[in-house]
Amino acid sequence: MPHLTTLAQLDRTALESLLDRADAMRDASDQGHGKLDLLAGRTIANAFFEPSTRTRVSFELGARRLGADVVNFDAPNSSTNKGESLIDTVHTLAAMQLDGLVVRHADNGTADMLAQHAPAGVAIINAGDGTHAHPTQGLLDALTIRQRHPDASALTVTICGDIRHSRVAAADIRALQRLDVNDLRLCGPAALLPEADTFPGCAVTDDFDQALADADVIIMLRMQTERMNGTELPDSAEYFRHYGLTRERLAHAKPDCMVMHPGPINRGIEIAADVADGPQSCILEQVRNGVFLRMAVLATAMGH
Ligand code: NCD
Repeated sequence: MPHLTTLAQLDRTALESLLDRADAMRDASDQGHGKLDLLAGRTIANAFFEPSTRTRVSFELGARRLGADVVNFDAPNSSTNKGESLIDTVHTLAAMQLDGLVVRHADNGTADMLAQHAPAGVAIINAGDGTHAHPTQGLLDALTIRQRHPDASALTVTICGDIRHSRVAAADIRALQRLDVNDLRLCGPAALLPEADTFPGCAVTDDFDQALADADVIIMLRMQTERMNGTELPDSAEYFRHYGLTRERLAHAKPDCMVMHPGPINRGIEIAADVADGPQSCILEQVRNGVFLRMAVLATAMGH
């Protein structure tokens, strides 16, 4: 795995071995060995052309905990704004002995394009490209679910929100289908549902209560307003009435249903504050797992 640009490139064995490695990183950390030296002497650059809190910080923390040096490339103020192509930027960084580039970009396919052009020895890791892919989020969500349910195949997982514009939905669906989850339900208002046949094997509905019935896991998503042209944007209060996860609604799911959200969360729009902070919320566990999962990905992609 020299690069990680989409989960399409991972078969079940490769995916599970990344999750196993993340589990091992978490166990080591719990036993007081949070700092490893697997990437000592290596240099990794974070290049985020879109906003990020969790993903950027967890890649940086993960790289540092593996002993790597990290450069936070100031993407919006870089020479790409002076017309330099991203490919030239990668070659420039490689000439400074860069070993890995973590990239987030608004354009679909950016990470794949860079992986095709990257000089040998530079690993490209996709931290989210447009509506296309977000492999480490799909992996960390699968890790969080697997921690609670070692056999995912019998689970009912509901993903609710802006499925159409969400790279997280795409990544989660791929990861969960690899783990043989059969009952995957996608839910949201018609304008935010995926086009027909985008996700074979998933049930698609605009009825949230029906989609939640007896669910083991509910993954809530933010409306990707930055990827809409305005016309599709529902009124927030109306949206919350139909698709906001409230305590009353959550009662339709199994009593121990995991409540997940990749963040950033919008309280009172897609999720009620008391549910986000409630006993079933796994949101901060996702964040914690994100660091271990990104350590596993960096260590694997960079050759150790
Ligand atoms: C997501 C993203 O950037 O795709 N956030 C994240 O990586 N945790 C989801 C979002 O922005 O809504």
